[in-house]
Amino acid sequence: MSYLRMENLDLAAKRVLIREDFNVPVSAGRITSDARIRAALPTLRTALEQGAAVIILSHLGRPVEGVPDPQFSLQPVAARLGELLGMEVRLQRDWLGGVDVEPGEVVLCENVRFNSGEKNNDETLARSMAGLCDVFVMDAFGASHRAQASTEGVTRYAKVACAGPLLARELEALAQGLQDPVRPLLAIVGGSKVSSKLTVLDALLDQVDELIVGGGIANTFIAATGHGVGKSLYEPGLIHQAQILIQKAHARGGSIPVPKDVVVAKAFSADAKPLVRNVDEVAEDEMILDIGPLTAIEYSEIIAGAGTIIWNGPVGVFEFRNFAAGTRALAEAIERSSAYSIAGGGDTLAAIDQFGITDGISYISTGGGAFLEFVEGKTLPAVAALEAAGSN
Ligand code: 3PG
Ligand code: MG
Repeated sequence: MSYLRMENLDLAAKRVLIREDFNVPVSAGRITSDARIRAALPTLRTALEQGAAVIILSHLGRPVEGVPDPQFSLQPVAARLGELLGMEVRLQRDWLGGVDVEPGEVVLCENVRFNSGEKNNDETLARSMAGLCDVFVMDAFGASHRAQASTEGVTRYAKVACAGPLLARELEALAQGLQDPVRPLLAIVGGSKVSSKLTVLDALLDQVDELIVGGGIANTFIAATGHGVGKSLYEPGLIHQAQILIQKAHARGGSIPVPKDVVVAKAFSADAKPLVRNVDEVAEDEMILDIGPLTAIEYSEIIAGAGTIIWNGPVGVFEFRNFAAGTRALAEAIERSSAYSIAGGGDTLAAIDQFGITDGISYISTGGGAFLEFVEGKTLPAVAALEAAGSN
């Protein structure tokens, strides 16, 4: 790919604006997985060692645009990043007008999504961001599928725009795993909604030999095979689509297995009592929160037989101990497997962290949606903008 790389530029005494994806899970003001912050450290250290004045941009969550909601503040990220870098990282609330930063210092700008126009890639906003720096470094692979002011727009208007080492490494590792995968190729896609991953699921079916769905997505597939799902999170309006996907998998000689058994509870809470049920025995007042033990064994066997594994999204509410066993079993099966395994997505990273299986995954991507869009073969707008900037 033809873009400039940060490693090839002289950053000494330059104002370097680095877009990272520090969209980390935060619960009650505490970061529950700092994997995305740690992944960016080599980029930031390299820039600092070169004598750059470092200004960082990131989003966090999906605040109402233009409304600086403290719940979505990057303050916890500034604190954690400071610990990891062993230096002060100042959080600047109002930064569009300019940032005071000296070579060797780091300033983290408050959530880019607090600015109106971020999401619709407003030109004036993107130009203000570009005006903050001598060099713009796009390093946020996880946000590279968004054509937003701090990802795509700023890349077009910056004096110099280049790819950061993390972004470049992500693109290379994913391409390596997907161009000519060792088969069977298995994808595991969890998450809450079929609607948000419909095109991804459809495109994956063109490439994979087997597709395991989990979480709320699986619930819609369970409903699509005629079973009641009680109070479970699912999308009745997408049952037909799910049936079409199942047929498509069959037509290609593969399948989208539906869990044989599930773990249910009467409430969505950490202390709700878990009950194992056959998939056709879920009561009206119950919700499915994990796959059951038989299903975990069946899926682990599918994993054991795979040559390449793409994993995005948990299969249960792994944050609650009572409903973590399914995701843990799959994670451990991937760890045991000698397949080339690629995992991506915020929740997936958190699960990998929680179960301590980092070393058992061949490549861990920091991307969620971006990871899936890459897998799907889509153009990532921020990468396209980098390539355009590089060829100018
Ligand atoms: C992610 O978590 O996948 C990225 O940070 C993108 O976040 P978004 O889906 O809110 O744009
Ligand atoms: Mg492994």
